[in-house]
Amino acid sequence: MTDLAQLELDLIQAIGQTATTTEVEALRVQALGKTGTISGLLKGMGAMSPEERREKGPMINGLRDRVGAALAAKKAELEAAELDARLLAERIDLTLPAPPRRRGSVHPTMQVMDEMIALFAEMGFAVAEGPDIEDDFHNFTALNFPPKHPAREMHDTFFLKPDPETGERKVLRTHTSPVQIRAMRAGEKAPAPWIASGQEPPIRIIAPGRTFRKDSDATHTPMFHQIEGLVIDRDIHMGHLKGTLEAFVARFFEMDQVDARFRPHHFPFTEPSAEMDIRCDRSGGRLRLNEGEDWMEILGCGMVHPKVLIACGLDPDEWQGFAFGMGVDRLAMLKYGIPDLRPMFDADTRWLAHYGFSAFAAPNLATGLS
Ligand code: DAH
Repeated sequence: MTDLAQLELDLIQAIGQTATTTEVEALRVQALGKTGTISGLLKGMGAMSPEERREKGPMINGLRDRVGAALAAKKAELEAAELDARLLAERIDLTLPAPPRRRGSVHPTMQVMDEMIALFAEMGFAVAEGPDIEDDFHNFTALNFPPKHPAREMHDTFFLKPDPETGERKVLRTHTSPVQIRAMRAGEKAPAPWIASGQEPPIRIIAPGRTFRKDSDATHTPMFHQIEGLVIDRDIHMGHLKGTLEAFVARFFEMDQVDARFRPHHFPFTEPSAEMDIRCDRSGGRLRLNEGEDWMEILGCGMVHPKVLIACGLDPDEWQGFAFGMGVDRLAMLKYGIPDLRPMFDADTRWLAHYGFSAFAAPNLATGLS
């Protein structure tokens, strides 16, 4: 057998024995690579005499073509086998039972917030927003909390680290009332486009949002939600406040009217101040509104304090107004019979599946609220 025939036999045999594409590639380099055996023979042709080249040339070229073809064929075969093996390994058994599907739902707090926004929007209130991180001026000073006044401590405020340059300590807002200030201070530029900028009266806004206090027990969580309301116009009096809030509460609880009382209270930013209660019956472990001899506190309210108006550049002899604030989570619990506040913020999908609302049940006054 000639050397060439022997070489071809050896190579074809070796190709036949490869088991992976990596081995095939190693053989290709060994035979046809730059310093491969066949490449060496091809190069050697340059030194041959014309007769010798005429005789050996076709043999060497033929050898290169056949070995090349054998390598390519083996490579294709192994690639197909490797793909089959991978497909088999990554196969998904579609006959396995699917894991139970948890559908997303709307949190009751957000549902109730949307209900409240829909009701107030119909009464002509616009939504205004403020930042969660507030400065002392908007959260306290402009709302007539005197400096060092215990009311500031009463709010169990979360203070941020003081600014190294100014020493100013920002706070996580303890209530949504600072949005009142932002809405009234007409000359003040809002720090971001979504934050309420001051407007000239008449003003009729509600401010829903997150609020924060260092407080945690069965009825308090460090983060909770409030809706604030503010009306500023000429000749505004307590009658407007009562009428607005009674209409709101009745519609919120889907009753024709509510049996409410306004109990004197104190807030620094209103004068007079009141808390609104609705009549209820708690006997037998059930809560019934508009019945019985008990009263349940619903919200805080009052006539905007002249000092607050002055802090916002409004003349109290010309403009008056009323304001109110309420806890959205607490009203959601009341309306939808949720017994405990804390699980509302546990993000437990089982709780959400039970108390959450379908995204298709967006509150809408035309079809009813709940
Ligand atoms: N900011 C009060 C609080 O968080 C609630 C409140 C009471 C808001 C009376 C008002 C108001 O606007 O008039 O406890």
